Order: sequence, then structure tokens, then C-alpha cells
Amino acid sequence: MYNQSEDLKSTKPKQFWEKPTIVKHIVGLTNKFGRHPSTLPYNSIDGIAVSDLVEEFGSPLYVVSESTLRRRYRMFMQAFAPRYPRVQLAYSYKTNYLDAVCLTLHTEGAWAEVVSDTEYEMAIRNGVPGNQIVFNGPQKSEKGLERAIQDGAMINLDSFDDFYLMERVAERLGKKAEVGIRVSFQLNYPPWSRFGFQYETGDAYAIAKRIYESPFLELVGLHCHIGTYVDDPNMYASEATKIVELATLLKNEFGIKLKYWDLGGGFASKNTLHTAWLPGEQTCPDFNTYAEAICPILLEGPYQGEEFPLLLFEHGRAMVDEAMHLIVTIISQRRLNGEKKAIVVDAGINLLSNVYWYKYDMRLARDAGTLTEGTTILGNLCMNIDVISHDTALPSMKTGEHLVIRNIGAYNFTQSTQFIHTRPAVVLIDEQGKAHVVREPETVEYWKQLDRVPEHLKLNKM
Ligand SMILES: Cc1ncc(COP(=O)(O)O)c(C=O)c1O
Repeated sequence: MYNQSEDLKSTKPKQFWEKPTIVKHIVGLTNKFGRHPSTLPYNSIDGIAVSDLVEEFGSPLYVVSESTLRRRYRMFMQAFAPRYPRVQLAYSYKTNYLDAVCLTLHTEGAWAEVVSDTEYEMAIRNGVPGNQIVFNGPQKSEKGLERAIQDGAMINLDSFDDFYLMERVAERLGKKAEVGIRVSFQLNYPPWSRFGFQYETGDAYAIAKRIYESPFLELVGLHCHIGTYVDDPNMYASEATKIVELATLLKNEFGIKLKYWDLGGGFASKNTLHTAWLPGEQTCPDFNTYAEAICPILLEGPYQGEEFPLLLFEHGRAMVDEAMHLIVTIISQRRLNGEKKAIVVDAGINLLSNVYWYKYDMRLARDAGTLTEGTTILGNLCMNIDVISHDTALPSMKTGEHLVIRNIGAYNFTQSTQFIHTRPAVVLIDEQGKAHVVREPETVEYWKQLDRVPEHLKLNKM
């Protein structure tokens, strides 16, 4: 008979024990195509064992792959450079503005695309010359514009208010400042119409005319960003067609010769959207497919026999998503309602905001066989909404083991917050397989640096 007092007296270490549950396992996960990907272990990143990374830098841990970043940039350029005479990528800073990430791409040749004074400052700190910065965004300050004009940045106006402000600043500086306009086209329904000047309503034409008539501004660029995770290259073909149509109109009406046309960002990554039928690995178009959809249309544009405008892109997701992973550790396991397998890991949705969009590829860092069970992955935030995945097929695992949440490079880090826990370190593995800390783990001191306590609230006044 079970004797609790005897058990409490025992000095033997407790064995892990889980109440048995009858679970239907899906067999046949190894077939002629090989093992199901969810059962494949992911035990090292760029040659360093996951367990070694955790031992040295702790868990959770963001890990950036320098070689993947460089490879993505080169693949992009290799697709576009042979198809259009002058192509340039201005990397979208908001996607991931860790200095090490931006600088890896800058050392490959990428320029910067920024959407605030803050991001502008980051690019300058990284050594990007002003004339290699594309300055977008719905909020531009007078000071920010002044600096951007003097630096020769490519400033794209987003609204008529931007126009008035820009004109005032240029007048004060006594300059005829070059500008671009952000245009939105009705390419799908509902259309992306929140930003820029709508083409179909005549707003794009109206602003072009205002700039043409302004003694202080000169229109030199067209910009359009049609969305994010756009995995249909035909959307870009439609965008290119409309840009050519508008450029032709502006050339014929006002004699405007564009210096650049900027097709924005938005190419898909290999991640899988929650709404997708097939894995992103299978559906994500490669850069060649996008390039083939876009470039021939631009080459047919109004610039025959002249130098073509610089073709700018502002990709973020397609550059960095696959270049960063998050290692987490399993801190406890449970059965929800006595049935559904759940694990709790040492990171929450505050580090992984994009779980809202993506069914991330999550792999155990150890080969635990091919039998899997639908598992709910919960974060460590003590909040009911903190669910990293409602259902991921994972093999049986032990508390203390590591899981790698793959391809999380876009938007998760920049949108991460301190919440309940400080944010973890970020390491970058270089091309020689050496790990470098590129962001220290946060401390409470860092977190509380900006707090100020009025005298009368201080507890220890003595
Ligand atoms: C103006 C602009 N350019 C580029 C991007 C980058 O988009 P993506 O990460 O989908 O390539 C964004 C993202 O929202 C954007 O607003």
C-alpha cells in the first residue's frame, strides 16, 4: 500500500513519471519520400551543436546564420542582375535591425530602407551614406527631412501633408529637393490603400502635378509596396505594369524622367502561413520566378534608348526569415484536460509575435524517432494567450531538452518586448562556424534604466 510519509522521507532522487495516457499514434511517417520533416532532428546550427550553444549562451537563444543571410542576398542579386541593367536592394530595416544583421547585408552591397527618424539614425550609425538610404514611412519630422535632404537620401512622400512639410523644409534650405512618391494601386481586393497616393482616384497624378509645379521639389522616383508575404509573382507583374503606365503618363504630361522606380518589398519566405494548404517550402517562388515576372515589363517601359531608372527593392522577410532561429528549452509537460499533450517552453509569444501568422517549423534537437503526437506548445508568460503552437506533430521528448523554432528572422526580434522576462541574447554564427554574441541578454538594470521614482514613493528613504 502507498505510504506517503515513507515516500516523503525517501532520499532517493525522484524519477520522472507521467500518468499513462492512451494516444493514437500515426504510423507510416516514413515512406518512400523519407521521414516526415517534423521528426527530423535539428541538432546543430551552422555546425555548432544546439546543446553547446545553450551551454555557452543560455536558453532561450536567438541564433543568426551569417552564411544564410549572405546566400539570400546573393541569390536575389543573381536572379535580378542579369535581367535588368541597374538593380539595388535597400534592406527593410524594420524587419530586423540588429546591427550585425544589417551590416552583414550592407557588406554584401545592400542599401537601407527606413521608415522613421530612428531607423534613419540606425542606418547612419551603421555607416550607410545618406544617398544610399530610402526614406519611407507615414511620419516624417521636419528635422528628419532636413537631414535627409542634406544627405541626398531618397525620400518618398506618403501624403499631401508630407508634401507640404517637404516643400517648407526645402524652401527654408533654399534647395530644389528631389522626391519620390509612394503610390498604391488596386491590384487585389480589398486593395492596399492605407499608404501613399492612390493611382485610380487620380491622387497620384495630382501630387505629381503639384510637385512638377513646385519651385522647391522635383519628382524623380515612384515607389510602391504591394504587401508582405506576396507569394504570387503575378501580383508583381501587375504592379510593374501599373508603374510603367504611370511613368509613361508622367513622362508624356510633364516630361518627368525617373531616376528610380522602387517596387517595395514583400517577397515570400519559406515559412508556412496558417491559412496555407501546402508548406511554404513547396509554395514559395524562387527569386528567378519573381524576376522573370517583373523585369521584362519594366524593360518595355517608356525609357527605350535612354538609361533605365534604378530598380529598387526593399525586401526584408525574404532576406532574413530563414537566417535566424530561436532555441528554447522544455521546462514542463502536461496533458490538457487529461488528454492533449502540451509542453511549456522557456520563451513566450513576446519573443515570437509572428506565430500569429505562421505555422513555424519546430524541431527537437535530438533524434527521438518517428512516432509523433500532436503537441500544444505553451510559452512561459503565465497568460492564457501565450500559445506558440496549438498543434505541432512532435516526437516524445524529455523536460530539459531543446527545441529549435526555425526561420523566425523577420519581425519577431524587432517586435519583441520585455514582458515578465528579460529578452535573451542573440548570437551570430559566422562563415567559419564561430559564434559571436551580437546582443547581450537583457538585465533588470537595463530594463529599469528609464524608470524614475518620485521621492515620496521611495520605500527605503533612510
Ligand atoms: C514600405 C515597406 N517596404 C518594405 C517592407 C518590407 O516588407 P517585407 O518584409 O515583406 O519584404 C515593408 C514592410 O512592411 C514596408 O512597409
